[in-house]
Amino acid sequence: MKPKDPSPPKTESAAPPLEGLSDYARDARKGAVAPYSRFKVGAALLTVDGEIITGCNIESATFGLTLCAERVAVFKAVSEGFKKFSAIAVVADSRKVTTPCGSCRQVLWELCGNIWIHVANLKGRKKTVRLSSLLPEPFDKRSL
Ligand code: THU
Repeated sequence: MKPKDPSPPKTESAAPPLEGLSDYARDARKGAVAPYSRFKVGAALLTVDGEIITGCNIESATFGLTLCAERVAVFKAVSEGFKKFSAIAVVADSRKVTTPCGSCRQVLWELCGNIWIHVANLKGRKKTVRLSSLLPEPFDKRSL
């Protein structure tokens, strides 16, 4: 049996200020193709080296092929060779803030790890959480 760790549990680091990243998401939202829902979303993904890759939601007439802003940003980033991420900002014109959908949470977890998620609406409502708080007990390659 391992001896008990005498050190105190690691405290969660404070959320970094991500308003600047949110501005990129707000701008990216303008490119959204959302003729069916009319719900435009923008996302901006921050790499550990400070690069920013943006995305917007793109809808399909089949509905099911619609891609959320978050996944567009992540797939763009990964396809361009970026591998390590620290945060994503998401902006929508919703009354409350819009958090990533279940599919995006899974994809973000697998490709970005436990990043900060900064969500904001156009009226200035905002919050920052860790992905692990939105996706507790995730399924990933360690589960296989
Ligand atoms: N959507 C996103 O892009 N991100 C989210 O976090 C929630 C939903 C998109 C998908 C669809 O185009 C529209 O918003 C309505 O669901």
